[in-house]
Amino acid sequence: MNIAIDGPSGAGKSTIAKILAKELNITYLDTGAMYRALGLKAYQSGISPSDEAAVSELIDKTTIDVQAGENGSIVFLDGRDVSAEIRQHHISKMASDISALQCVRIYMVDLQRKIAARRDSVLDGRDIGTVVLKDAEFKFYLTASVEVRAHRRYIELMARGEQCDEAQIQEDIARRDYNDMHRQHSPLKKADDAIEIDSTSLTIQEVKDKMLDIIKAAK
Ligand code: DC
Repeated sequence: MNIAIDGPSGAGKSTIAKILAKELNITYLDTGAMYRALGLKAYQSGISPSDEAAVSELIDKTTIDVQAGENGSIVFLDGRDVSAEIRQHHISKMASDISALQCVRIYMVDLQRKIAARRDSVLDGRDIGTVVLKDAEFKFYLTASVEVRAHRRYIELMARGEQCDEAQIQEDIARRDYNDMHRQHSPLKKADDAIEIDSTSLTIQEVKDKMLDIIKAAK
């Protein structure tokens, strides 16, 4: 069984996916973390995410591995645990920019399909229901207003001790939404057969219960 959860940043996808995976005892794969890892490598290598030839060369020299940890996915970049580093605010933009390249999408989709084929999994991302796992048994599209998403991200970054400005975060999220929804390859959009859930005024528990009810009703 595979579950796809897509939607814009900050809608609560990874939090929900983690809880669902635990309750259903299946694997959780955070696909955004994989794009973030490559974004981090490009950043550290001084490569612009718009330089497709350089990024393509970089991919050939890169190993990304994701393993299930107690608190979500643990991401290894060339054998090094970068799970914390990839969450830095400036890496979000690198990840979004680099994810627009076709060579990057081909590499990631292949890797994600291989991981999902090994075990029952819940994957969260932007193109899981539309591209990566078109035949997933369950597809959800999780949204929330940009204000609420920015506020959640602000709280998360502050809790981690990162200095940030909420208005700036909201602007960055809106720009990233636009990039992710308007790129040429695999743009973020709801799959025709995905169930849309708006989490603006729902708690994590309520969203999780909604999804679990749907999954259990179909079993
Ligand atoms: O979910 P996230 O914010 O960690 O994702 C970071 C970026 O990676 C996001 O802006 C777009 C890209 N991404 C993607 O293109 N496809 C996915 N399946 C997951 C993430």
